[in-house]
Amino acid sequence: MCGIVGYTGHENAKDIIIDGLKRLEYRGYDSAGIAIQEKGKLIVRKKKGEIKELEKLIDGEEITGTTGIGHTRWATHGEPSDLNAHPHVSADGRVAVVHNGIVENYMELKRQLIEDYGILFESETDTEVIAKMLGVLLEETDGSLSDAVYELTRKMRGTYAFAAIAADNPGEIVAFRKDAPLIAGVGEGFNFIASDIPAVLRYVNDIVLIENEEMVVATPDSLRIYDENHNLVKREPMKVTWSLEDEEKGGYEHFMLKEIHEQPKVLKETLYRRLDENGRIYLDGIKLDSEDLKNIDKIYIVACGTAYHAGLVGKYVIEKMSRIPVEVDIASEFRYRDPIVDEHTLFIAVSQSGETLDTLAALREAKSKGARILSVVNVVGSSVARESDDVFYTWAGPEIAVASTKAYTTQLVAMYLIALYLGDLTGSITEEYYQRILNELKSMPDKIQQILDRSDEIENLAEYLYNRDQVFFIGRGLDSAVAYEGSLKLKEISYINSFAIAAGELKHGTIALMEPETVVIALATVDRLFEKMYSNIEEVKARKAHVVSIAKEGRTEIERQSTNVIYIPDCADEVTPILSVVVLQLFAYFVAKIKGENIDKPRNLAKSVTVE
Ligand code: M6R
Repeated sequence: MCGIVGYTGHENAKDIIIDGLKRLEYRGYDSAGIAIQEKGKLIVRKKKGEIKELEKLIDGEEITGTTGIGHTRWATHGEPSDLNAHPHVSADGRVAVVHNGIVENYMELKRQLIEDYGILFESETDTEVIAKMLGVLLEETDGSLSDAVYELTRKMRGTYAFAAIAADNPGEIVAFRKDAPLIAGVGEGFNFIASDIPAVLRYVNDIVLIENEEMVVATPDSLRIYDENHNLVKREPMKVTWSLEDEEKGGYEHFMLKEIHEQPKVLKETLYRRLDENGRIYLDGIKLDSEDLKNIDKIYIVACGTAYHAGLVGKYVIEKMSRIPVEVDIASEFRYRDPIVDEHTLFIAVSQSGETLDTLAALREAKSKGARILSVVNVVGSSVARESDDVFYTWAGPEIAVASTKAYTTQLVAMYLIALYLGDLTGSITEEYYQRILNELKSMPDKIQQILDRSDEIENLAEYLYNRDQVFFIGRGLDSAVAYEGSLKLKEISYINSFAIAAGELKHGTIALMEPETVVIALATVDRLFEKMYSNIEEVKARKAHVVSIAKEGRTEIERQSTNVIYIPDCADEVTPILSVVVLQLFAYFVAKIKGENIDKPRNLAKSVTVE
């Protein structure tokens, strides 16, 4: 998704901004550009394609200005092209703007600019309207860019963050946030604005989070924040503790592989941080107690993509352990279906980035109806976290690969801990059960490591199956939730058409697609449902499908109906998703690698989806 970086200081802005943009590459983009203040003018360079295309464009050009803005664009309005790339400029070329998000009323503003001012447009973007409008408003504000930005935001509707510089305002960057992420990085004699912390982490650890409808005015020596009424706001920076190393590949060929291998470590982090000295669960960011819980009669878990799949597991374990009814919903659907939510509802938002617009909008919808909001988020200080009553940080560390892996398994751990915590509060589980599941969770890092140590088995399987056109994933109960995640992983990075279905549903239609050699990945890790699943495997095997089963060690009877079997270490039924998904992550990874796909940045996808 689009990324913004702005720098004002005394060093070469172009180099620093391009370095920052590279740190946002993982989010997905289709063009890149910069605008630099240079001797009373603005130099604007932009190019379709990767950042290296932009670098080629400016190679050999002397650009020495020390203030500028840059952008990576992920097309929403208008195709990826040099013209549609950001920055966009005012009619006189003396204001430049980079922008994330959407200006909903841009057509109306564009018409006004054409009819009232005779302004010509060169791109198909909504962003160009911001630049052109700022150019007009600057005349009315006697050259005050911050006043012009303030005036403009009164006229604009939508969800966006943007940053602007003007040729006549040396050293100044003005940025504004409305429902899209924006941060400022504080240095000595220099400052940054950016859409994401990783963009500036190489230069600063002091970060100021910009709140909704706030404007930030940065110069080398000052950082001023104004609230929606244009009042000055005082805010101390927070220290970011991730290191740059956390964001580098550390010897792995791809970030995705590195992140898969980090799972034992980050799961420990997520889990052990939540255990007190008596070995009981202590959820630091969650204030919800047994009194609050008496008031809760329903739980919604709402999320998108992989986070939604974590929610499917969450429904199963939270209902089982707390006996409170749980509904799971896709965020983009939730808010348009007039959900039954009131002050007796606990709304759980799950989001790695904490910036997914659909999840954020669903959260706001639930909040406006009185729900208590608990979020499970990876990025500290993200919008979802900030708008929640209670927050569970997953502590997975930065996840760079677009395909989510370690964030998912830490979300699962969050679901188990929340389920046990609620189960304990409602008195629905025994102490013996509580300790048993907790011990199972504690054994997960070592058991994941055992699977990782046998990666070559999965790689061999991938070598055999990588050229298939379609793959089916089936499972029952918790295994069906993992089937959805396995299928998403495969399709997003290998582009193989994959399909997941609850195995019991096969015979109601999908079995019509089974032919000799159709690949079916059958998850049969739940002892309680093993026989039922075995029958479903027989159904597809009878149609001569190529069945790859995933089962617990010791379940060797499954070999009779399977072409291949991958075993996971033995564990309680409740926690098998944490192990079986690692097999599927590795399978997707190896298939994509053998096919030579762009694993960390798959086509058409963005890491953080901040548009509807
Ligand atoms: O940042 P979020 O967890 O809210 O993102 C939700 C989805 O966009 C995300 O999980 C997406 O499905 C990933 N590409 C999955 O690998």
